Amino acid sequence: MFACGLSLFAVVSFLEEISKSIGACQNVVSDAKSAQKPPAPPGFLSISRKKLLQNLEINAGARVNAWVDSMRASSPTHIKSTPSIADDGGSWNLSHPSALEMFEQIIDASKGKQIVMFLDYDGTLSPIVADPDRAFMSKKMRKTVRKVAKCFPTAIVSGRCRDKVYNFVKLAELYYAGSHGMDIKGPEKLSKSNKDTELLFQPASEFLPMIDEVYRQLVETTKSTAGAKVENNKFCLSVHFRCVDEKKWSELAHQVKSVLKDYPKLRLTQGRKVLEIRPTIKWDKGKALEFLLESLGFANCTDVFPVYIGDDRTDEDAFKILRDRGQGFGILVSKFPKDTNASYSLQEPDEVMDFLRRLVEQKELSVDCKSSVENLIEL
Ligand SMILES: *[C@@H]1O[C@H](CO)[C@@H](O)[C@H](O)[C@H]1NC(C)=O
Ligand SMILES: *[C@@H]1O[C@H](CO)[C@@H](O)[C@H](O)[C@H]1NC(C)=O
Ligand SMILES: *[C@@H]1O[C@H](CO)[C@@H](O)[C@H](O)[C@H]1NC(C)=O
Ligand SMILES: [Mg+2]
Repeated sequence: MFACGLSLFAVVSFLEEISKSIGACQNVVSDAKSAQKPPAPPGFLSISRKKLLQNLEINAGARVNAWVDSMRASSPTHIKSTPSIADDGGSWNLSHPSALEMFEQIIDASKGKQIVMFLDYDGTLSPIVADPDRAFMSKKMRKTVRKVAKCFPTAIVSGRCRDKVYNFVKLAELYYAGSHGMDIKGPEKLSKSNKDTELLFQPASEFLPMIDEVYRQLVETTKSTAGAKVENNKFCLSVHFRCVDEKKWSELAHQVKSVLKDYPKLRLTQGRKVLEIRPTIKWDKGKALEFLLESLGFANCTDVFPVYIGDDRTDEDAFKILRDRGQGFGILVSKFPKDTNASYSLQEPDEVMDFLRRLVEQKELSVDCKSSVENLIEL
């Protein structure tokens, strides 16, 4: 039943089986838990010791200034002061070459293997915009992702709640892992003949009441910081600071910390222009990637080739899993050199789209997903 290199159709029927035995999935997950040391909490950028000592201490050694440094580092606002890929002297560019430049090599490496595509949403499929509620993806991008999903099993892995990211992407044929993978759902209606074929997995459901409570407190506490926006992502919370004046970042970090000090079961991590609060369970985008690979029947396969494209620190957990498995690779979307476990880079969502298009074209040349791509009704 766990045969490797399943076609998309075999995968669909496989999922019918796995959804009947969701208990088995949970075993798989706890195995993964015990086998893997939990990754260090993302968000703590390495900053110098001296700087650390200078930093202001608040509750239990949590350092607000470290957070502000981290907020700056992962959310560059001064384009000129951050080395761009072009004037970095070329070393980052050599260690993390463009996935477009390396396209032929990537295709060679994936030959004879089943590509499985994992895509982050914000900053990867859609541009980072001032209002997170308006982070729409372009029509062209949606069309491209739809074609990708015809050729390869495809999952969207996002920090946002699943419903929200679904409302942006609007493609029923994909897997969605919302709330950093804590809310996973398979494609709608896998089979017309069987109603209960849906894959649904929510490892943190007991945290829901606590998260709602903290959401209300954060909304209240951050009210006084202009531009701060708290978003309830169901299994986690986001405090967006893309619209907050940089001078107020430290104030915002203080406010968030003051709420969280009463909730040791929640932890704070850092994304691009966003602070994220989530349960301390050992679950992240990397675990979600592994869970999805298992669910798709690729648990012990050597001929699977997962590709994960993402732009922020929370995606590092997935990059690292791929690196550790020695299968497939990660692609970091970034205009600037960054410390990353991804193998390749793309500068922006437009380049992601080009890369995905070329993958589809390549697949059309080799197999028969061409007819199904051509049969797609234009959106
Ligand atoms: C390195 O960066 C330069 C400038 O952005 C680009 O033209 C070149 O193709 C890149 N090389 C690789 C291997 O990605
Ligand atoms: C994968 O392999 C291990 C060890 O060979 C085995 O115990 C496990 O059941 C396999 N998992 C699946 C999903 O086939
Ligand atoms: C990359 O992986 C290494 C080794 O597992 C880890 O120490 C490092 O922190 C990771 N880098 C990032 C940016 O997450
Ligand atoms: Mg992102």
